[in-house]
Amino acid sequence: MSKLFILVTGATAGIGRAAAIALAREGHHVIGAGRRIDALEQLRAEANVDVVRLDVTDPQSVEAAMAEIDRITAGHGLDVVINNAGYGLPGPLTEIGDAELRAQYETNVFGLMRITRAVVPAMIRRGRGRIINVSSIGGRITFPFFGAYNSTKYAIESMSDALRVELGAFGIDVALVEPGPIKTEFAAVSLTEVSRVQREGSPFAAVYARADALAAESDRMAGKPEDVVRAIRHAVNARRPRVRYVVPRAASFGLALMRLLPTRMLDAILARFVGLARRRPAQLTA
Ligand SMILES: NC(=O)c1ccc[n+]([C@@H]2O[C@H](COP(=O)([O-])OP(=O)(O)OC[C@H]3O[C@@H](n4cnc5c(N)ncnc54)[C@H](OP(=O)(O)O)[C@@H]3O)[C@@H](O)[C@H]2O)c1
Repeated sequence: MSKLFILVTGATAGIGRAAAIALAREGHHVIGAGRRIDALEQLRAEANVDVVRLDVTDPQSVEAAMAEIDRITAGHGLDVVINNAGYGLPGPLTEIGDAELRAQYETNVFGLMRITRAVVPAMIRRGRGRIINVSSIGGRITFPFFGAYNSTKYAIESMSDALRVELGAFGIDVALVEPGPIKTEFAAVSLTEVSRVQREGSPFAAVYARADALAAESDRMAGKPEDVVRAIRHAVNARRPRVRYVVPRAASFGLALMRLLPTRMLDAILARFVGLARRRPAQLTA
């Protein structure tokens, strides 16, 4: 196996951190990126990786990180990019304001594309490269109160489908990794985000009150970052990566089952899961 230059965004925690450590252990030259300097230094101390400070929402930060990566790779550029940085903004869609919705898209969608645009020209010049986008099963199916977050992952799915064909012509593979619930800092960040969205007198007060319990329930079913890392390692090392990796196995099974159900039936199950009693819609015309 040849040694590859690999950038992992969001390497200060969770899936990205575990992936950076695992890929470095198998001999790749890994560059871990994130905003938290202390966490980057901790990662560097623990594993044989280079680190760069990177905020994917900030074009200047991306430019500075790319210059640093150019120095680290002695002008070679990156062989593989793992677009993993992201967070979840839960909440009733009608209570999420423009600023919060834009911020969610700025990180999960525009951030991913900003990094992709920055690395692709060198890959095209070399006639090879690999882009691995960390999506979610929420990019295949939508969960109530995760509409904002899920829609960013739907966007990534669609963009990755386009990129796969557009860049495939230049020897660049594009793969999607679609995790189900995984035990990371994701749930804690989501709970902080939901507390910012919550409004006084909301008709969804009962659901907000259950946010902690729902997060705990999701955590109970959650897999480990290592489950996702296995898929990422395959996407990096396989001669031909799969187009989509749904992980862990339970999520893949759950997704298949949910997609088989009639939409109205799935709606009713999900409403009950989040604690919403479904009312009969009133007749709008006499
Ligand atoms: N955990 C799950 O249940 C789950 C399920 C499906 C999909 N995913 C996806 O998996 C990916 C990783 O999430 P995780 O579960 O590992 O969550 P996590 O433990 O919260 O880690 C998120 C990482 O993203 C980084 N990040 C966030 N905003 C950033 C920004 N503006 N610029 C650069 N880095 C940023 C964070 O680093 P800094 O704060 O240091 O910047 C952190 O390293 C995300 O794309 C998430 O949507 C997670």
